[in-house]
Amino acid sequence: MDRYQSFARSGLGRFVVGKLGLPDPHPLRRHSPDGPPLAGPVLIGGGGRLADAVRAAVKSAGLDLDDTGHGERYGALVFDASGIDSVERLRELREFFQPVIRSLGPCGRVVVFGTPPELAESQIAQRALEGFTRSVGKELKRGGTAQLVYVAPGGEGAIESTARFLLSGRSAYVSGQVVRIGPADVAAPADWDRPLAGKVALVTGAARGIGAAITEVLGRDGATVVCLDVPAQGDELSAVANRVGGTALQLDITAPDAPARIVEHLAQRHGGADVVVHNAGITRDRTLGRMDADRWDAVVAVNLASQERVNEALLAADALRPDGRIVGVSSIAGIAGNVGQTNYATTKAGVIGMVDSLSRRLAGRATVNAVAPGFIETRMTAAVPLFIREAGRRMNSMSQGGLPVDVAEAIAWFAHPASAGVNGNVVRVCGQSLLGA
Ligand SMILES: NC(=O)c1ccc[n+]([C@@H]2O[C@H](COP(=O)([O-])OP(=O)(O)OC[C@H]3O[C@@H](n4cnc5c(N)ncnc54)[C@H](O)[C@@H]3O)[C@@H](O)[C@H]2O)c1
Repeated sequence: MDRYQSFARSGLGRFVVGKLGLPDPHPLRRHSPDGPPLAGPVLIGGGGRLADAVRAAVKSAGLDLDDTGHGERYGALVFDASGIDSVERLRELREFFQPVIRSLGPCGRVVVFGTPPELAESQIAQRALEGFTRSVGKELKRGGTAQLVYVAPGGEGAIESTARFLLSGRSAYVSGQVVRIGPADVAAPADWDRPLAGKVALVTGAARGIGAAITEVLGRDGATVVCLDVPAQGDELSAVANRVGGTALQLDITAPDAPARIVEHLAQRHGGADVVVHNAGITRDRTLGRMDADRWDAVVAVNLASQERVNEALLAADALRPDGRIVGVSSIAGIAGNVGQTNYATTKAGVIGMVDSLSRRLAGRATVNAVAPGFIETRMTAAVPLFIREAGRRMNSMSQGGLPVDVAEAIAWFAHPASAGVNGNVVRVCGQSLLGA
């Protein structure tokens, strides 16, 4: 908890926050191996082509179902809106949610399923779902989240990994997002608690911050993790690699021979990689008029150019194994833009371009997705001046910064073998930040 959050939870703090209408950051319920995924039962409503699949996924995830509509404290409200084939029928959203929305418990989940608008009977009605869910996310207090999941025909059997992510503490800091699931044949993993068992994952920038959290979460899920960072971070890198029983690869990803060395390490020690997470990133902020070439070039080299080179080298050497996963780390700065970050935002928008182009090119062979974190509590954000830092922390539906583990959980969902239908997505991990879309 940050200091303001601790204050807001104290007796005096509650009084002051209530009286002045200040942000009230509710402690977020995160994944714990010992606790149930949700704090209460799930109520499912609506009915369309996804109804059976949604119900099956909720049951398979071990979530309690309460179909009475008279629950006290729901853990989640799930609505299959894929049957809404006219503007008039949008009223079904209000009819389902209005009587029960105030019965959603703290850190509750709202998930609406629909059909990709361009494939739907009524493109207008399905597109309208986005405004509904984003507004619900903004109305929910106490750590609640709301998402929209568009499932293409043929993707019905591929929703479970996404349902498990969204209907649990794993998605604590993800809200107001639109996820697309395409057609895919998906087999359930032998063990949902260790879905990455037998898989090899490369994580760049693994020595600290978000990269260290990604390494730990992928390791928790059973992957053997190859942890890459610059030689100057060698000690921290070894410590992270040792914690998860992975290997450490000391390397500057901008070095001319970096792609070849990565391919060689993966091929010789592990027989290739199943998951590649391009997390290493730097900032060198200056407004454009003061932006020198060194700052510009350094950020482009680390955040974008090296990633493109590494991808091409892995693909050329066939070092990304079948049904692979490539995950980029973008930023809300790449979506909304940010003062002093023309270089950084250029690269982070470029990461989205990488997702768009590569996800199509590799369709059927690998998935390519990215997370776009908002304000995450790391050394990178600790270095931001206090006033800007406080604004960044509070200007979102959760009124708080996220934790590295929140980004890592989203990446683990992309990396999941049952997420083969999740391709070409950019999902923000930003607590529904007010910045950008
Ligand atoms: N912290 C946030 O709020 C936030 C928000 C949006 C996006 N991001 C992105 O998340 C990623 C991780 O950020 P973080 O906050 O953990 O940063 P961080 O500075 O704590 O960690 C970045 C890691 O990348 C490594 N790295 C840098 N250049 C490298 C190179 N040339 N070769 C190999 N490794 C290199 C660093 O040594 C470091 O260990 C970055 O891509 C960042 O842009 C962070």
